Amino acid sequence: MTSLATFENGARAGGESPDVVISVRDLVVGFGDKIVMKGLDLEVYRGEVLGFVGGSGQGKSVLTRAILGLVPTRAGVIRVFGQDRDKLAPAERRALEQRWGVLFQNGALFSGLTVKQNIQMPMREMRDLSQGLMDELAMLKIELVGLAPDAADKFPSELSGGMVKRAALARALALDPELVFLDEPTSGLDPIGAAEFDELIGTLQKTLGLTVFMVTHDLDSLYSICDRVAALAEGRVIAAGPLETLLASDHPWLRAYFHGVRGGRLRAARAEQEDEEWKPAPTTR
Ligand SMILES: Nc1ncnc2c1ncn2[C@@H]1O[C@H](COP(=O)(O)OP(=O)(O)O)[C@@H](O)[C@H]1O
Ligand SMILES: [Mg+2]
Repeated sequence: MTSLATFENGARAGGESPDVVISVRDLVVGFGDKIVMKGLDLEVYRGEVLGFVGGSGQGKSVLTRAILGLVPTRAGVIRVFGQDRDKLAPAERRALEQRWGVLFQNGALFSGLTVKQNIQMPMREMRDLSQGLMDELAMLKIELVGLAPDAADKFPSELSGGMVKRAALARALALDPELVFLDEPTSGLDPIGAAEFDELIGTLQKTLGLTVFMVTHDLDSLYSICDRVAALAEGRVIAAGPLETLLASDHPWLRAYFHGVRGGRLRAARAEQEDEEWKPAPTTR
């Protein structure tokens, strides 16, 4: 179908070929008789925030886990930073895995460890650092995600939902990754908490130059921080491109998703933002 081809090809108009960080080709994943991915293709470019949407149970988390190498695949090729993990020696695979950080969907922290100890888990596993240095690094990450220093010695049960997400993000950033996977990072947060978390992700993405793969149901997130959006339905990516392109599509699934009740909220938010953009700039002398 031409319209879908346009989304893929039109993602980065202008000729220069974008640097592909994640490339998924003809991916098939199943559990027993149930086929979840039916020949899925997807690319994620360096330095972008890619929002990944799809109905509940369609396989967003399964795809995330497949890219991470945590779910067996039946066919297809997945490359991250140009490398196919199935072809790597164990040491190369570990090196590859240190270039990304993950905030899992129920990505809670270890409840028996403090925030600082949680953030230090990946450092302990992957690096050979002194306790003093790990303490300093953990405090830097805590500051980076906007938590107060006294959160360091708290246990997850002593934190609000938003603080747990921030701490989990700090842990995902523990090894200074180039690529971050976020599986529904704002689910369970109230709208203000979700908007603040989006802003944090957007700021970190820019300042750290991250590439972000973000599964989300949150249309506000798609609008506020995603450079492109990919939509999953029936085991395939049915469209990928700028949000505007998907919003303008007449694909039935996209129409239902974006122009339903929640889509109305999205359009209202966009109208509001456009209003603000059109305010005359203050005059300066
Ligand atoms: N380990 C597993 N074993 C069997 N079925 C699974 C497993 N993991 C996921 N599934 C199934 O795969 C489908 C996609 O799940 P998931 O990726 O979690 O959906 P979502 O898009 O909501 O994240 C669901 O039907 C789920 O039940
Ligand atoms: Mg999921």
